[in-house]
Amino acid sequence: MITVPVVLGAGDTVGAAGTAGARGYDVVVGEGASVGLASLIARRVPRARRAALVTDATVAAASWFADMDPGLPFDVHTVEAGERAKALANVELLCREFALSGLARSDVVVAVGGGVVSDLAGFAAAVYHRGSAYCTVATSLLSQVDAAIGGKTGVNLPEGKNLVGAFWQPVGVLCDTALLDTLPVREWASGRGEMAKYTFLGEPELPELSLEAQIARCVARKAMVVAADEREAGSRVLLNYGHTLAHALEAVALRSGVDLRHGEAVALGLVYAAGLARRLGRIGDDRVALHREVVKRFGLSDRLPPELEGLDPEEILSYMRRDKKAAHDLTFVLDGPRGVELVHGVASKDAVDALEELEELSCT
Ligand SMILES: NC(=O)c1ccc[n+]([C@@H]2O[C@H](COP(=O)([O-])OP(=O)(O)OC[C@H]3O[C@@H](n4cnc5c(N)ncnc54)[C@H](O)[C@@H]3O)[C@@H](O)[C@H]2O)c1
Ligand SMILES: [Zn+2]
Repeated sequence: MITVPVVLGAGDTVGAAGTAGARGYDVVVGEGASVGLASLIARRVPRARRAALVTDATVAAASWFADMDPGLPFDVHTVEAGERAKALANVELLCREFALSGLARSDVVVAVGGGVVSDLAGFAAAVYHRGSAYCTVATSLLSQVDAAIGGKTGVNLPEGKNLVGAFWQPVGVLCDTALLDTLPVREWASGRGEMAKYTFLGEPELPELSLEAQIARCVARKAMVVAADEREAGSRVLLNYGHTLAHALEAVALRSGVDLRHGEAVALGLVYAAGLARRLGRIGDDRVALHREVVKRFGLSDRLPPELEGLDPEEILSYMRRDKKAAHDLTFVLDGPRGVELVHGVASKDAVDALEELEELSCT
């Protein structure tokens, strides 16, 4: 078992009602980590007398779900599985259910699931009684290495992903690797895409480590970035490496009914970003080759899936210009001599040429 502390400054964010200790928290990684749920709650939310377990239908049906024990009387609140559950309507539903079950401000919300559940339940906790304590049992690889860490919570609107939310830190996160036994193959791919990303964010040995050590290193890296920039005013944006093209590809995939997982898109986004960085003279062929190698080491493809060949460059550019990092221009997180950094004002021609290069390599 590896414990990774997430250290947060006092900042202007107050902790949840009834929580004990500093605003920072521990992330526990390892087989059986979820057994520590009751003691985590007893330690960090000592006044809690009741818990609300929020999960999705797939996780609720997993063989191990019945073992979840917050050590307090609790109700289970189940939403549908998948991204669609991240909706404001579910925030209202959950808060109403919390109220009906008598959940007090000093009680605790427990998210048991992947990133969808922790984003949704975390946001419900952030607004229930103007801020209740929550903790997360992260059950997907993606949530263990990324989504459950860092206190960004929220839901989608029909107009866009994650448009409504709050920065609300959990009181603890349990990344139980045993729970990953039931995770479907494509969901593994999603988590591995994020792991490939962390390799270039200061974790070059990541591909060589055990799964537990890999997760812990990703958590520690994310914790470090979050500690330096909790509200994403600056450096936290580096966690977006590979995501500019990834989000554009995901949008095209969604529109055309192609099943492309987030991590698969991130893997392609990393390869694309490396090609673009080379074009801009920031890195050499060896670094581009390393990007491809790392992506493949994590079991992901460095080529566009055949269903996505023949991308319309204008459509991709228009999505990339709308990226949250962009200031009315094309902005990317790119590798370079000083490591990965934010680069504004990339010329459309370079972005399109790099896309063509990715397509050409995919066809060979
Ligand atoms: N808050 C953040 O900082 C942050 C960061 C990255 C991603 N996210 C969000 O996270 C979400 C993606 O998270 P995700 O990939 O975990 O998706 P998810 O929560 O939808 O989980 C993926 C699928 O796997 C199932 N599942 C989860 N754990 C399982 C297990 N152990 N066994 C069997 N099935 C299991 C789920 O039911 C779901 O069907 C997105 O909404 C994204 O926006 C948030
Ligand atoms: Zn991501």
